[in-house]
Amino acid sequence: MVQLKKEFCDNSVIIENKPVRLFNPTPTALPMAKATKKNYKGNIVIVDDNPNNLRLLASLLNKSGYKVRPVSTGKLALSTTKLNPPDLILLDINMPEMDGYEVCQALKNDVLTSDIPVIFISALNESFSRIKGFEVGGVDYITKPFEFQEVLVRVSTHIQLYQFQRKLQEVNSLQSQELIEKNQQLQEKNYELENLNQILNTKIAELQHAQLQLVQAEKMSVLGQLVAGIAHEINNPLGFLQGNLEHGQEYLNSLKEHFSLYKNELKNPSSEISAHAEDIEIDYLLEDFPKLFKSLNRGVDRLQQISESLRIFSRKDSTAKIPFDIHQGINSTLIILKHRLKDRGDSPEIQVIQEYGNIPEVKCFPGQLNQVFMNILANAIDALEETESQEQKQIAIATEIVENLEMEAEKAVQIRIRDNGAGIPDDIQKSVFEFLFTTKEVGKGTGLGLALSKQIIEEKHGGKISFRSEIGEGTEFIISLPLTVEERELQPQTENRSIS
Ligand SMILES: Nc1ncnc2c1ncn2[C@@H]1O[C@H](COP(=O)(O)OP(=O)(O)OP(=O)(O)O)[C@@H](O)[C@H]1O
Ligand SMILES: [Mg+2]
Repeated sequence: MVQLKKEFCDNSVIIENKPVRLFNPTPTALPMAKATKKNYKGNIVIVDDNPNNLRLLASLLNKSGYKVRPVSTGKLALSTTKLNPPDLILLDINMPEMDGYEVCQALKNDVLTSDIPVIFISALNESFSRIKGFEVGGVDYITKPFEFQEVLVRVSTHIQLYQFQRKLQEVNSLQSQELIEKNQQLQEKNYELENLNQILNTKIAELQHAQLQLVQAEKMSVLGQLVAGIAHEINNPLGFLQGNLEHGQEYLNSLKEHFSLYKNELKNPSSEISAHAEDIEIDYLLEDFPKLFKSLNRGVDRLQQISESLRIFSRKDSTAKIPFDIHQGINSTLIILKHRLKDRGDSPEIQVIQEYGNIPEVKCFPGQLNQVFMNILANAIDALEETESQEQKQIAIATEIVENLEMEAEKAVQIRIRDNGAGIPDDIQKSVFEFLFTTKEVGKGTGLGLALSKQIIEEKHGGKISFRSEIGEGTEFIISLPLTVEERELQPQTENRSIS
């Protein structure tokens, strides 16, 4: 080793197979040119404690087009490479203070210099020295004395590799920067889309809401006008009937009295009068007369009740809530639905059970509440018409005051409408209040009834509407309307009343 080093220190290197004296380091045989801007091939730091070696290598490389910085100690090498990182470092191993391995390790430990390729140039030729050189991060190992052409080839290869690597890194970092930017743009677009989606969803919900209100207003006005019109039309003839019935009864009573006077005075009527009396069954006629009038009066009363119910059902809501007898609302709705409750041949009679509790009048929009009763009762009738069960079909309506657990008011009026129809299947239970959800055939259901009812109860009245249902058992809708303190203090105004 010492010998080799010595050999090198003998100031001779081999250039193109010829030993060249170091103190005459201009190898005339080599076509060399000083590194100029034009032929600049790279920037090299040469580290060697031997000034002769340093000078020779520096001059050779410089003439081959490299910019060279010769340094004589490891410490100087570290500071100069950090300050201005070269493209390659040619590093001697045997140096005082800090040997080449340590310098290489220090270079590799610093992010600023870790990528710079290091070629060891050493007289140490044992394989463990080479291996150690590679272990500490060297990319190549040249033994002294060296062939300068070989040094040139290795230097140029590693510099090109390093420059190529750096370009690749630059491209990579440029691409990843672009990717990051694109990703950021995508995220922003995504965020914008999400926002738009949210706005769209809100708008759709608002639209559906508005649509429901329109439908409700439309339904109310069409149905209300129709029913109010019928009620009005019935009222006039009803008035004639009622007034004339009273007079008719009076007239007939008078005629009856007058007839009995005749009968008393005319003891032996002619055969013609007797035959006519027999023909018209005068005794039965006189006896049946009052009954006939009673029945006529009952009919008129019933008509009056219907007309009143129509009026209650079709009442136009004002902008403010007004106290309303809930039972009256339910009863008037039942009267309007009466034709669907009767035995109609193909569908048997539906029995209505009214379990009305003592509840006060509730401040509400009566027309809208009636519409809710109508929707729920009509659904119950639909469900009962569809059921195959042989059981007596029933709708039970119960009302009572309950402790209010879910709403702000402490108490609420609860209205429960239960049918023993087919029930609502589990998989559609979550959808029944949805806008346009229906299981009924086209023309029979629009899927608005319950959506409207929910809006009326929960948004317009601050109440709650829910249901429980079991297949084969039936369905119960539960409506709760909060009671104000004044309402709670009101005496219950309604009593049980059943429709006939
Ligand atoms: N009492 C009930 N028993 C069984 N199913 C019911 C009952 N009430 C509601 N449903 C189910 O809920 C669905 C939605 O009811 P909703 O009243 O909103 O619409 P609809 O009755 O189908 O149509 P419409 O707009 O004419 O009322 C019904 O189609 C039906 O499937
Ligand atoms: Mg319905």
